[in-house]
Amino acid sequence: MNFAGRRVLIIGTGLVELAARALEGAVIETAVADSLNGRSLQSDPPDLVLIDAAGATAEALGGAISTLGRAPTPPPTLLVGGQLPVALVRALMRLPHSDVLEAPFTIQDLAATAAPLMTARLPPVQSAPSRCWTVMGAVGGAGATTIAIEIACALAERLPGPRRVCLIDLNIADGAAAAYLAAPANMLLSRASQAPERIDPALLDAFVSEAPGGIDLLAAARDCHAFDTTSPEAVLRILDVACQVYDAVVVDAPRHRRAWTLDVLSGSDELLVVSELTVPALLAARSLAGEIEAELPDGPPPRIVLNRLAKRVFGPAPSMVEAEKALQRRAVGGITSDWEAAAASANLGGPISQHRPKSRIVKDIGDLVDRLMASPAVRGDQARVA
Ligand SMILES: Nc1ncnc2c1ncn2[C@@H]1O[C@H](COP(=O)(O)OP(=O)(O)OP(=O)(O)O)[C@@H](O)[C@H]1O
Ligand SMILES: [Mg+2]
Repeated sequence: MNFAGRRVLIIGTGLVELAARALEGAVIETAVADSLNGRSLQSDPPDLVLIDAAGATAEALGGAISTLGRAPTPPPTLLVGGQLPVALVRALMRLPHSDVLEAPFTIQDLAATAAPLMTARLPPVQSAPSRCWTVMGAVGGAGATTIAIEIACALAERLPGPRRVCLIDLNIADGAAAAYLAAPANMLLSRASQAPERIDPALLDAFVSEAPGGIDLLAAARDCHAFDTTSPEAVLRILDVACQVYDAVVVDAPRHRRAWTLDVLSGSDELLVVSELTVPALLAARSLAGEIEAELPDGPPPRIVLNRLAKRVFGPAPSMVEAEKALQRRAVGGITSDWEAAAASANLGGPISQHRPKSRIVKDIGDLVDRLMASPAVRGDQARVA
């Protein structure tokens, strides 16, 4: 392949000489992993990004890969190095067009790996990781908060970089996420409602608390008037800013309709409705999903998660097949019931993945997150079954 005139951006400095010989004639620029500029990637994208794994910390490289992933059309990216961390390689593989080259390698190896990446640029992908995941219970106590927390922690495990996942509890009157995680509830949303235009990354930082499980939390302290004193502008702005700052945002959304509910749902990439395996919950889930589809025909399709599946069923509970019949749609996943793990973790303060990592809940959530990351929701896609 003729590399003459092709623009190659090298993250790190170690590879410059080698790349100049392997990609003869290419115009080589360098950048530091920490300060990769998302805006210039968008306005003036290189033909190839070459990442020197030895040139920065895994965290900085993870951050750079996240920045690349957020570009509207991420450039082809080649990660080069020895003993590459698995998390980094997984993040890289989520880019639409990427490859790895294990050290040691020859100049010919580098040219042979770079060439196909540079020639076959893909169109913008559907499979970029979803940024905003909203979880809503079909009935009270279905497990929405528990599942939102575990999804946030599972995403944090899968995304590299320092600002990975923020869990936002939009049950602003009496949300339970902070209590489940034993983390402070610092979000003063009703005060911020007086000047929502002033909500920026700095204010977000002041509202955020660190939670166990490698996530950040935005939750408000208990306030029975909060729904009356918080403006829709403030809620939507906090979500917007969080989506700019974090790789992924998980929203624990209240079940009852608020002035901002539809905007929150339509701005989400994934929308999960949590139901239990009881007839009233399934009927509520079916109605809620139907309502959302009717009101947001071009929005993310509501996908149903069945929670607290029990192996031994006490009394007449519907099977998965019967549940899907009642729902008139397929469920996107099922989460096993494990009361001991759920209660112990809530009592100790922290995610189940931390206190009971071997629980089936953790495995089921991990599988669900992997499945949804592999096939993100397509807006306007209705998932009905006959
Ligand atoms: N898979 C599960 N197995 C066992 N217990 C669970 C499971 N999921 C949730 N729970 C438990 O069910 C109860 C309700 O869960 P949670 O608070 O997450 O529900 P919710 O839908 O957020 O409730 P609310 O309507 O009050 O917001 C909690 O005690 C929680 O520990
Ligand atoms: Mg809840």
